[in-house]
Amino acid sequence: MSDEESRTEEPRPTGVSRKTLLRAAMIAPAVPLLAGVPALARTPSGQPLAATPESCDDDDLTPPQIEGPYFKPGSPLRTSIADGPGTALTLTGYVVGLACQPIAGALLDFWQADNGGNYDNVGNRFRGHQLTDTQGKFTLTSIVPGLYPGRTRHIHVKVQAPGRPILTTQLYFPNEPRNSTDTLYDPALLMNVQIVGSGRQATFDFVLNIQGTPPSPSPTPTKTTSPTPPTGGTWAPYVAYALGAQVTYGGLSYACQIAHTSLPGWEPPNTPALWRRV
Ligand SMILES: [Fe+2]
Repeated sequence: MSDEESRTEEPRPTGVSRKTLLRAAMIAPAVPLLAGVPALARTPSGQPLAATPESCDDDDLTPPQIEGPYFKPGSPLRTSIADGPGTALTLTGYVVGLACQPIAGALLDFWQADNGGNYDNVGNRFRGHQLTDTQGKFTLTSIVPGLYPGRTRHIHVKVQAPGRPILTTQLYFPNEPRNSTDTLYDPALLMNVQIVGSGRQATFDFVLNIQGTPPSPSPTPTKTTSPTPPTGGTWAPYVAYALGAQVTYGGLSYACQIAHTSLPGWEPPNTPALWRRV
């Protein structure tokens, strides 16, 4: 399947070198401008990371990869997708833009194989989506996915800043024998993985082709306290939608799959995890 996002949505930035800024921050991490993105260049112990971006230059954009045959829309909203036995895995990181600015409210939809290398194509085992916090941070709790024929070990993910195109990609594990034979494998998508006790702790930062800051997911003064509109209402931002609520948008009807308060950029066609066509 071809689900690659366009990476030419916006012109390339010019002027100030973000790499210079970030490296300055690595020397003086208390610089307020860069507060909130410490994981970009450091492990929890403060050591520089080798596998995650050390800057947010154009060259560091997270590359897209094919979706593959096992994506399913409508995954549950949750940060833990550890639905079976396996080696515990915690993945943390940030979603940032071209200036290393954190992207709050970015949607991350993860799916992976279970310990035996099988995808749940009926239910939602080992599937889940979440939103980055105000610092652009996310945390996924799962297990190390099993291997299946033809592929090296990997985790699938879709990443979407509010109102922006979806980045579909895959994350890989270091020191996997099959990395050298999997034609999809891309070292730019290697997680930094450490063995901690009997589990694994991984980090990865997504760098999206975004300049500036997308609409804030934080409530604004224009937020209303409108109840879920009656069936047939038109979708609107800043509305608390309940599970099952139906709206129209662009002449089409949608049903709410997850209770949430809508935000600009979360229009139903942009958020298939939240809205289902009816
Ligand atoms: Fe896969």
